[in-house]
Amino acid sequence: MPDVLGFNDLSDVANQVRVCERCPLHRTRLNSVPGEGNPQSEILFVGEGPGFNEDKLGRPFVGNAGKFLDEMLNSINLDRTQVFITNIVKCRPPENRDPEDEEKAACLPYLEAQIKFINPKLIVCLGRHSMNYFLPGFKISEVHGQPKHRGDLYILPLYHPAAALHNGGLRQTLMDDFGRIPAIIKKIDQLIDKK
Ligand code: URA
Ligand code: SF4
Repeated sequence: MPDVLGFNDLSDVANQVRVCERCPLHRTRLNSVPGEGNPQSEILFVGEGPGFNEDKLGRPFVGNAGKFLDEMLNSINLDRTQVFITNIVKCRPPENRDPEDEEKAACLPYLEAQIKFINPKLIVCLGRHSMNYFLPGFKISEVHGQPKHRGDLYILPLYHPAAALHNGGLRQTLMDDFGRIPAIIKKIDQLIDKK
């Protein structure tokens, strides 16, 4: 029986994303990118949408931004098999344009189901498009690196690795913010223990 938002489990979400035609992005994609990683992860990373390489391979963050993400994960003694990585939209917008509101809305049930099934301690937003969904009205330049509590979720907005990759100042800021993830998880554990 369907369980969460009409999905049986996390792989059911992925299977439906693979064949989804809910928005026009399905017409121009090579492969949709459901996301991947550890279904029991404490941390869920949410990027914006697949780019050229992700569309080609059907996997999230496999280009240069992904390499940088891998390096930052390693810097806190994690790798991508221990976390879960997905995106706001699961298909590549043509020419890497910003996803449109209708596309984001059409794709949202997949992300919502992934959040319910994974039940992460912390959602890390990679970039402002992802942050805008969880923390509407905030400015990434003002809140990056600061965890926020929304409903049952703790949200950490970070700069997008692709934006930070070729900008020295932003790159260091992102690496510093990223380095605080273990301490933020510890803090969340303490808050949960007190409940
Ligand atoms: N940028 C994103 O936002 N997501 C990816 O999967 C790759 C690059
Ligand atoms: Fe479906 Fe999302 Fe792809 Fe649109 S972007 S076709 S809603 S999986």
